[in-house]
Amino acid sequence: MRSLVVRAPATSANLGPGFDCLGLALNLWNEVEATPGRVSADDDTNLILRAARAVYDAAGEPYPGFELRCTNRVIFNRGLGSSAAAIASGVLFANEALGKPLDEAGLLRLASAVEGHPDNVVPALLGGVRVATCAEDGRVLQTRVPVAMRLTSVCFVPEMAIPTPHARGLLPSSVAMADAVFNVARSSLLVAALASGAPELLAEATRDRLHQQYRLPLFPAGATLLEAAMRAGALGAFISGAGPTVLALCVSSDEPVGRIEEAFESTARDENVPGTVLHLALSERGAHVVG
Ligand code: HSE
Repeated sequence: MRSLVVRAPATSANLGPGFDCLGLALNLWNEVEATPGRVSADDDTNLILRAARAVYDAAGEPYPGFELRCTNRVIFNRGLGSSAAAIASGVLFANEALGKPLDEAGLLRLASAVEGHPDNVVPALLGGVRVATCAEDGRVLQTRVPVAMRLTSVCFVPEMAIPTPHARGLLPSSVAMADAVFNVARSSLLVAALASGAPELLAEATRDRLHQQYRLPLFPAGATLLEAAMRAGALGAFISGAGPTVLALCVSSDEPVGRIEEAFESTARDENVPGTVLHLALSERGAHVVG
């Protein structure tokens, strides 16, 4: 059995109101070279190997173990889908090594089960902007949102890490009907605005009342950074996934991108928050085998 190299992109989930169901792929890539034939103690703890093993189990094949060489560009625990990239890589090379016993639906189902929600793993595997949810029987129902505008992203990635389980643990177990209605309306508006090319709706359509207010206390500068991005001309801005990264959507041309980059840099300086500003294009492509 030969080595395989796979790439998987960073992703941003929720997009503001679409908690656990909206996500997009970003042009920042992890690369994994997997060589079969080495079972190790990492197999239960390493997410890439757990995902790979899940494919072998699903296919009813003996798991051979893999040695991994990873180039990790998607920084861990920042809200940019590092777990989803790991899972997408693992399911993809394992499926390839087995001669593709699982089809796309099978890979999506397995990857979502390993992650626990589909909003990062679906764009990580398939690329683009995606709406994704799981049916009660575990099937992943998903579709691409066609984006009828020239859109790009500017992110502020703080040095501080926040593990997703911690950020999910802060959420209430029930919410007010008014907040649920607020998000249903904006999540629907967001998808329609992207598909119909209505950038003027994105500011309102990316607002949220289900998760950001509970998570921002972990990263208080986040609210100031979001406001700064909007003042600098962002079309919409939100916490990326479970945070703490904040992501601003804007028209893909130099001027708004530069203004938002500067706004993030100066606000982070004023707030004394170390971090990195990244201009990341949206990626139409998801995880793939390189060789
Ligand atoms: N929808 C998830 C959350 C994304 O907000 O917790 C992070 O994995």
